[in-house]
Amino acid sequence: MLGLTNKRVFITGAASGIGRATAERFYKEGSELVLIDMPTLEAAELQSLFPNKMTYIQGDVTTLDVQNKIKAEAEKGIDVLVNNAGITRDATLLKMTDEQWDSVIAVNLTAIFKLTRLAAEKMKAQGRGGVILNAASVVAHYGNFGQANYSATKAGVIAMTKTLSKELGKDQIRVNAVAPGFIATPMVAKMPEKVLTMMEEKSPLRRLGKPEEIAAAYAFLASDDAKYITGTTLNVDGGTILG
Ligand SMILES: NC(=O)c1ccc[n+]([C@@H]2O[C@H](COP(=O)([O-])OP(=O)(O)OC[C@H]3O[C@@H](n4cnc5c(N)ncnc54)[C@H](O)[C@@H]3O)[C@@H](O)[C@H]2O)c1
Repeated sequence: MLGLTNKRVFITGAASGIGRATAERFYKEGSELVLIDMPTLEAAELQSLFPNKMTYIQGDVTTLDVQNKIKAEAEKGIDVLVNNAGITRDATLLKMTDEQWDSVIAVNLTAIFKLTRLAAEKMKAQGRGGVILNAASVVAHYGNFGQANYSATKAGVIAMTKTLSKELGKDQIRVNAVAPGFIATPMVAKMPEKVLTMMEEKSPLRRLGKPEEIAAAYAFLASDDAKYITGTTLNVDGGTILG
């Protein structure tokens, strides 16, 4: 057992892909879930997936309204925050609009800062430590054509993770990131087939990753088995980064 039973686990972007798989994994571990996502058709479905152990906050993590709702829920207790929500708005430099740049920074970086700040404040007050987990990406390490905005946020997440682990360690709050390779989710389904085939070939395992393989990394890093791990970024990429 990973020691996650009855832990209060907050997951952003939980309606789809990696966030959904992460919610399923923590639910199986017996955690109490607070799930956050945009209003989607899956809301009702999400409610029924996690009977009795789930609170759903619907809305945009970049808004003060949703941040306040998360804060109110955190007041009831928070042990783990998984900052998973993320978006892509791809374009090469000369074609990238300010809106594309700003929206990706707002969701992938600024919202993580704000939610981590409110979670850490409560974790510190509780005095029982806590875990912050951030979604990075392999593109933080090697860049990606058409993703100046996205890759900058993911590299920013890794640097922020290191800094916050230094600041929060004395309160036994651990901060780690996971850098997925290419994982078969709706986000990646938007990419051209030939790019996906190229990505499969880039991995020594010759396949894309599965959302539950990222969820497993989050569960491990949240668990007592990882209680001496902080400030790190775990690559879960089938070896893609080896080039
Ligand atoms: N899929 C991959 O290959 C891959 C690789 C590296 C990193 N990641 C990262 O993993 C995370 C999850 O990716 P995914 O592939 O599951 O994506 P996804 O698009 O399938 O799911 C992302 C979820 O986040 C939600 N979301 C987006 N903006 C939001 C906002 N402002 N407020 C609240 N919710 C919001 C979406 O509604 C969606 O449900 C992202 O941070 C992504 O950058 C994914």
